Amino acid sequence: MRLINSKTELSTEIQLIKTNNKTIGFVPTMGALHEGHLALVKRAVAENDFCIVSIFVNPTQFNNATDLEKYPRNLEKDAKLLESAGCKIIFAPESEEIYNPEEINNRFEFDFNGLDNVMEGKFRPGHFNGVVQIVSKLFSLIQPDKAYFGEKDFQQLAIIHHMVNTMDFGVEIVDCHIVREPSGLAMSSRNERLTEDQRKKAVEISKVLFESRNFALKLSPTEVINRVIDEINKVPELTVEYFEIVNSNTLLPLASWAEPSVGCIAVFCGEVRLIDNIRYKL
Ligand code: PAF
Repeated sequence: MRLINSKTELSTEIQLIKTNNKTIGFVPTMGALHEGHLALVKRAVAENDFCIVSIFVNPTQFNNATDLEKYPRNLEKDAKLLESAGCKIIFAPESEEIYNPEEINNRFEFDFNGLDNVMEGKFRPGHFNGVVQIVSKLFSLIQPDKAYFGEKDFQQLAIIHHMVNTMDFGVEIVDCHIVREPSGLAMSSRNERLTEDQRKKAVEISKVLFESRNFALKLSPTEVINRVIDEINKVPELTVEYFEIVNSNTLLPLASWAEPSVGCIAVFCGEVRLIDNIRYKL
């Protein structure tokens, strides 16, 4: 496995792989890897000749300076995990290698076709502009055949599909299921920042989401939304930022249970912001 920091060195490797007609499976990450990331990496390894993983805590997608500063980083540990999962190249650039100062200071503009008006887009203004900015740069550099994303970031995945369709990247996006801890808590790099007590409380998020599938049988979408928010807010240290049930294709608020639906939630557990989601109808 090679650890590469420079774009030039990366390009040389990509040229070589392409000249040999080998396929590339790409997993973009911000590091602090957990079993959820490793599931994507193992799938990329199994389905392609080469697996490339990027580790880059992308400054342009953070709308909160403290969140960026406190985002967990551990390249050495990540590299060991990736090597044993079968990754061939880690691309871990410094910010200056990716962005010029102008790109950092001015928002990257992209037409989201309304997909960013709700949920994460509403509560983290500019977040998805930063995500599209970095993912499009990484796709151009790495030219993957397939790229793997987790469904925990449901809205991000919808936006990446839209981006690939509108920008004609010719890369297949592979949607991968949420990986959960045995308790049900969705795996996240941010879980590392939870105390043991907070981690127990955070389990209530997935517990209430799973229960909501039962009470959804008798309630309207709005009633389910209110009940989920009430039950989670009852748990000390948990504060729901939003819970929305949307059409899983358009991300528009759900009018009736006949539509394909997903409930997406963001909850503060103390200072740590966690997201999760649940499908009601496929
Ligand atoms: O999901 C993430 O970890 C990030 O948003 C991504 C896709 C690596 C872009 O920085």
